[in-house]
Amino acid sequence: MNWYNEQTDNDLSKQQEILQTCKLPKHIGIIMDGNGRWAIEHGLTRTEGHRQGIESVRDIVKACAQLKIPYLTLYAFSIENWKRPSSEIGVLMQLLEYYLRKEINELHQNNVRLISIGKISSLPKKVQRLLFESIELTANNTGLTLTLALSYSGRWDIVRATQMIAHDIRSGKLAPEEITEEIFSSYLQTAHLPDPDLIIRTSGEMRLSNFLLWESAYSEIYISNKYWPDFRREDLYEAIKDYSRRERRFGKISAQIQSELQNMAVFEINKKAEK
Ligand code: FPP
Repeated sequence: MNWYNEQTDNDLSKQQEILQTCKLPKHIGIIMDGNGRWAIEHGLTRTEGHRQGIESVRDIVKACAQLKIPYLTLYAFSIENWKRPSSEIGVLMQLLEYYLRKEINELHQNNVRLISIGKISSLPKKVQRLLFESIELTANNTGLTLTLALSYSGRWDIVRATQMIAHDIRSGKLAPEEITEEIFSSYLQTAHLPDPDLIIRTSGEMRLSNFLLWESAYSEIYISNKYWPDFRREDLYEAIKDYSRRERRFGKISAQIQSELQNMAVFEINKKAEK
């Protein structure tokens, strides 16, 4: 299934509007929350909530690829989620397996590169194998990089990076005074990803829940009141529009940002004139 042939005219025009009027985030991270509450409100089991959540994953992945957003990271299972009842963990692992089996060919056909972050060795062997096969299959794709955060937590990754740095110092590969923010980042599992520009959290909760803690230092945060199973591409478009209206100052003052933008615009005009 080619994702670029199946869009309705209505959706195409919404995407055109976004492409023409918005500054797109390069990397979107999503904390997919509220599957359980969605299910309870619909008189269904939590399993149904997670199952329905996969439909949202499908739609959002497609929409990001169609908009040519380079990076999407989905927080699918945190290290803390291992504390849930074993029956629910079993369901989530089965759904992950189902998603990979069912979707990987379509992801591959649409040039998506799948990667994962997290303590993958904690996942059931069957899921690990499937995940590695999927990652290998799509390794050379050049479209959307879809990162699944699985058995992941930000603090875990920071501690892991610190341990690796300590080993490298002990073995003489690195000196303590050589550690910079860039060097530290290069030890994280997200080393090859840009920091997320926009983090979306569904279900109205306002916290990061251990997601990309180091990387989110300057991320814009967007909270949607919808539960994840109800969050679809129209909601993503709203989040992108909202992001596009924000002024990202990275510690500077507004006047500096405005003058940088002006200089950039002049540079672009001059570049075009030279051609
Ligand atoms: C949070 O809702 C959701 C999760 C812990 C799991 C997310 C998993 C999926 C959407 C399905 C599998 C994912 C992929 C990528 C195939 P919650 O259970 O915490 O909801 P609650 O806060 O309302 O209880």
